[in-house]
Amino acid sequence: MRANFYNHAVAISWLTLKKGASSKILMKYMDHATEILLHETRAVCDAIMVGSNTIRIDNSFLTVRLVEGKSPLRVIPNSRADISPDANVLKGDAPTLIAVAESAPADRIAALRDHGVSVEVAGRDAIDLPLLMRILYEKYHVRKLMIEGGPTLNYYMLQHHLVDEVRLIHLPFIVGGADTPSLVGGMHIESEEDMFRLQLKKFYLCGTNLVTEYDVLYGEGADGMA
Ligand SMILES: NC(=O)c1ccc[n+]([C@@H]2O[C@H](COP(=O)([O-])OP(=O)(O)OC[C@H]3O[C@@H](n4cnc5c(N)ncnc54)[C@H](OP(=O)(O)O)[C@@H]3O)[C@@H](O)[C@H]2O)c1
Repeated sequence: MRANFYNHAVAISWLTLKKGASSKILMKYMDHATEILLHETRAVCDAIMVGSNTIRIDNSFLTVRLVEGKSPLRVIPNSRADISPDANVLKGDAPTLIAVAESAPADRIAALRDHGVSVEVAGRDAIDLPLLMRILYEKYHVRKLMIEGGPTLNYYMLQHHLVDEVRLIHLPFIVGGADTPSLVGGMHIESEEDMFRLQLKKFYLCGTNLVTEYDVLYGEGADGMA
């Protein structure tokens, strides 16, 4: 399944100040060269995906603005089809696909379609991420996908082995807080076998920010690391 896709996960380490706060508060500390890298990465991807809670809190645009290039298809898993009608991703400056569950109310699905966005059913009550990836591959010709958080989506994409690569942008400060969002949310793990294992493949400075790139190891490669 995963071999059919190239899912480029861009997981960014500044995240947020506290639970419920927008990541945009901390984004102003990112070096301009790194912002450009972010937009260059968007421009070479066929699609960009963020979780519905990120849309609620950050009201992201997810477009390419700082470099020349086409904005990727914006993909939002949103089982109940309940993102705000004022969400920036519903504005027509780039194509958008909202993935909903079968149980989503029909009137909300119709309201989304009225905004001119594509709506796909992927899953009964929750979003079936492997099914969504298949739809993206077969119907929307997505070969390279960037995942730009938040932590819950990062976790479930990793848990389903749908991520090939993780890229971290390190900003030079530490944010505390037991419930502050971190790189991945999701469930606690029971043992070290459940850890997501990475292999460092590249590191470099982008302006003043350190950037690290990892391959995600699943199965045999991961066992070899243990
Ligand atoms: N770069 C950064 O630093 C960065 C980037 C993005 C976001 N953020 C921050 O992250 C925070 C939001 O993150 P979050 O973790 O609360 O939410 P999130 O990851 O943005 O959204 C949660 C997503 O998980 C889906 N979901 C839940 N359980 C699932 C399952 N079992 N299978 C598939 N999908 C599932 C939800 O969809 P439903 O609607 O279907 O429930 C939703 O799309 C915000 O504070 C934002 O500022 C930071």
